This record gives sequence, structure tokens and C-alpha cells, in this order.
Amino acid sequence: MQGLARLWHWIDDICGLSASFGPIFTHRVPAAKKSAWLYVFGSATLVVFLVQVVTGIALASAYVTGSGQAYDSLRFINQNTLGHVLRGIHYFGASAMIVLIGIHAVRVYLMAAYKYPRQVNWLTGVALLLLTVLMAFTGQLLRWDQTGFWTAVVAAEQAGRTPLIGNWLGHFILAGDTAGGATLSRFFAAHVFFIPALIFALLGFHLYLVLHNGISEPPKAGRPVDPRTYRSWYHAMVARDGVPFWPDAAWRDLVFGLLIVLTILTLAILVGPPNLGKPPDPTIIQASPRPDWYFLWYFALLSLIPKWSENLVIVLGPLVFGLFLVFLPLLGGKGERHPLRRPWSILIVAFIVGIIGYYWHMGVLAPWSPRMDAPPLPVAVVGVASGPVADGAKVFHDKGCEFCHTVSGYGGIRGPDLSDAGDRMTRAEIATRIFSGAENMPSYTGNLTPAQLAVLLDFLESRHLKPPAATAMFPPR
Ligand code: HEC
Repeated sequence: MQGLARLWHWIDDICGLSASFGPIFTHRVPAAKKSAWLYVFGSATLVVFLVQVVTGIALASAYVTGSGQAYDSLRFINQNTLGHVLRGIHYFGASAMIVLIGIHAVRVYLMAAYKYPRQVNWLTGVALLLLTVLMAFTGQLLRWDQTGFWTAVVAAEQAGRTPLIGNWLGHFILAGDTAGGATLSRFFAAHVFFIPALIFALLGFHLYLVLHNGISEPPKAGRPVDPRTYRSWYHAMVARDGVPFWPDAAWRDLVFGLLIVLTILTLAILVGPPNLGKPPDPTIIQASPRPDWYFLWYFALLSLIPKWSENLVIVLGPLVFGLFLVFLPLLGGKGERHPLRRPWSILIVAFIVGIIGYYWHMGVLAPWSPRMDAPPLPVAVVGVASGPVADGAKVFHDKGCEFCHTVSGYGGIRGPDLSDAGDRMTRAEIATRIFSGAENMPSYTGNLTPAQLAVLLDFLESRHLKPPAATAMFPPR
């Protein structure tokens, strides 16, 4: 013990650790009694970011950046138990970071903690939010499966709509005219070098400002921020009623951060990362990419808005939102902080959460896109394990019918539900539809052998709605 203490004093003396970092622990912060737990989301984002750095480095050391090998190297990582869990942590870590930084931003906005003197805290935070979203976006492409690949293509197409610099921007994102090996290298470099370096730098500045300006006190209605008196008032307030950061305030950050890490770990082990999709095939333009959940709402929005408004929404939407975030602290840097005195702030948050929630819901249903990941129909649904009907069910899945048509709750919802096809249509009617196709259904002429068609029809003819429960209770005499 004595030896350890001596060692510590020696290191501390020549490195000046407690002189430089001691004040971070001892500095006084407002005693946020009731709202104390609302202050943990920023530090939790930081904790998850560090988790991402560690797991990211581990993943990068087994990942091969090359359009020919990236997919296979990920399959290799996935087959290894530790690799599988690592991918899981990195995936759920990314989700957690998006959620936590989102909540942190909303908390700061609702409490108007962006007002004097913390305007630059806010602006660096906005940049960090953007960078976090970019990390999620670039990371998704590194999977280099159908979804990742098409997400990049769609993003480049959208960036291409920007006035004046659109062409250049699209080119810049893809590192060429089309998505390929160079795109992958560009995204990899952005994801592991460029963006993280920016995040580290901005994060350092962000945290320095948090220390310099102090943590904002919980807002109180009728106590507006006046830049001329705020600092002296704040210092007197923390000196009088404040608490030392460590441990009085920091223990909550510690507990919450630990809880988040444990949750991520549990999800990584129990649920695991999303399965890799099919390898990218630039010739399949009907791929209907479904991005990771945090971008799903935006995809749904783009799919559902009328064509004429697309340019407006894609270009103007982010521009207006971005300008709002930047000018908010510059123009609204003083005055009332309490959300009840700033009712529009509650409305704005409710509006944004409502839009995202609505389109997210639509994105999950995705009525406009075939469900390429529909699993083969289980035997319980098909009714038999072998024979023509079972073979037909297999054709129904393999030929992609199931991507658009639901049978007993399985499959896509782009086309009509076929659970009761046998009740509604004759064999000939079904066959005609399969050959002729329809507005949103491809014609299968030439794409099915007579044998496949025969079993497919057998299967569809066997689709009947189950007799209602009442019939079973009162069997016909
Ligand atoms: C890309 C999506 C898509 C695929 C793939 C697809 N369908 Fe369709 N299907 C549709 C749509 C949309 C309709 C409704 C067309 C209309 O009548 O407006 C439809 C209609 C039908 C109908 C008529 C249903 C009714 O209630 O009127 C049948 C039967 C049918 N499809 C069978 C099949 C079979 C069998 C396959 C596979 C060989 C298949 N479909 C593949 C989208 C698809």
C-alpha cells in the first residue's frame, strides 16, 4: 500500500495529474435535485462512443476493405463467436449512440441550456450530432451487402439533387460515377479515420466548454438569462448551493453509463447483430433497400411524399433544420429558459418526434416495397411437409411471390393477401394473373417451368381461410 502510494505520488508529481484533472472532479455543479437524472444522457453518449471506438478497432483489424472481400471478411467475423458478439456490440452501440445523443439534444433544447454562455457548447453539439449520424450512415455501407450498397447509391442520388454542387457531391460520396471498390474505401476511410478524428477534436472542445461554462442549472420560470449578470450569479449560486461534481453528481453518470453498456452487451449476446443481406449485385436495381432502423423513417418519408415535392423535402428540409439549429443559440441566447415559458419549443419537439414516429411506423410496414427477407413459409402454415402443395409453397417463396403477398401473416404487403386465394379465385384465374402480371406485379411468363407452375397452383388453390371457431363448436349434423 505504502509503495503504491509512493508510486502514485511520484507519477502525479512529474505528470501533474491531480493538478490538471483534479479540478474536474472537485468543481462544483448545481444541485439539480428533481431533474438530476435528466443530465446523464450526454455522458452516456460519451461512454457508448468509447465502446464504439474499442469494438470498431477490433472489427477493423479483421475486416478487409475491398469490394471483392469485404462481404466475405464480415461473414468470417460473423462465424466467430467473439466476432459475432463484437459486431453485435458495435451495432447496438450505434443504435444507442443515436438514441442517447438525440435525447441529450432534446433535453438541452427543452431546458434552453444553449443560452448564454453556452452557445458554442450547443454549436459543437450540433456538429457532433451530425457527425454521429454520418458515422451511422458510413458504417452501414461497410457491411457491403445489398442494403448497405443501395443505401449509398440512394444517398448519392439524393445528394445529387443539391443545387449547384449536387453533381460534385454525388461524385464525392461514391468516389466515382458508380458505387464500387473506390466507394467502399472512401466510406471506410471516413468511418475509421476522418469522422472519428473530427469527433475526438470536437468532443474535447465540447467537454472543455462544459467545464469552462459549468453545467447549466435546472431552468426556473421567471428567472431569465441576462448575459451581463449571469456568470457572477452562477458562480455565487454553485458556491452557495452547489455540490462537488465527484461524487455527488457523477455517480448518476456512472450508474447510467454502466446500465447502458450492460444493456448493449446483453442485446449483443441475446439478439446479435443483424444478419448480412445478400452480397451486393449492382444488376438488381429492384433491390428495395431497407436501411437500418434509424434511417428507416427518412426512407419511408421519401417513398411516400409526392414526386413533385421531393426536391423541396430533400434539399430544403435539412437546410431549414440545419439553419434552425445553428441560429437558435445565436438569436435566442438570452431570456426565459423554462419550457413552459417557451411553449413553442415543446410544440417543435412534439412535431419532429411525431413526424419521425409516423414515418418510422410506415417504414416498418413498408407497404410500397417487397419484403425481400420474408422467410420460407413454415410447415404449420403450409399444412403439409411434402408433396405438391409443399413444393408449391417453396416455389412461392423462391420465385419471390412471398415478397409481395402475405399468406397467413407471412410475407410482404405490396400485393393482396393470398391466405384465402383458394376461396376467391379459380385455378385458371390464378394462372392468368401469374402470366399476365399487373401494374405492380411482374409477369412470370417464361420464368416458371410447367412443373413449377403446377405445384404453385396446387399450393394457392389449397389456401382457404380457416373455418371460424363457431363452426367447430357446433359441428354440422
Ligand atoms: C413485386 C410484387 C409482386 C410479386 C413479386 C408478385 N406479385 Fe402477385 N400481385 C402483386 C400486386 C401489386 C397485385 C395486385 C395487382 C392488381 O390487381 O392491382 C398482385 C396480384 C396477384 C394475384 C391476384 C390477387 C387478387 O386478390 O386479385 C395473384 C393470384 C398473384 N398476384 C399471385 C402471385 C404469384 C403466384 C406470384 C409469384 C409467382 C406473384 N403474385 C408475385 C404484386 C406482386
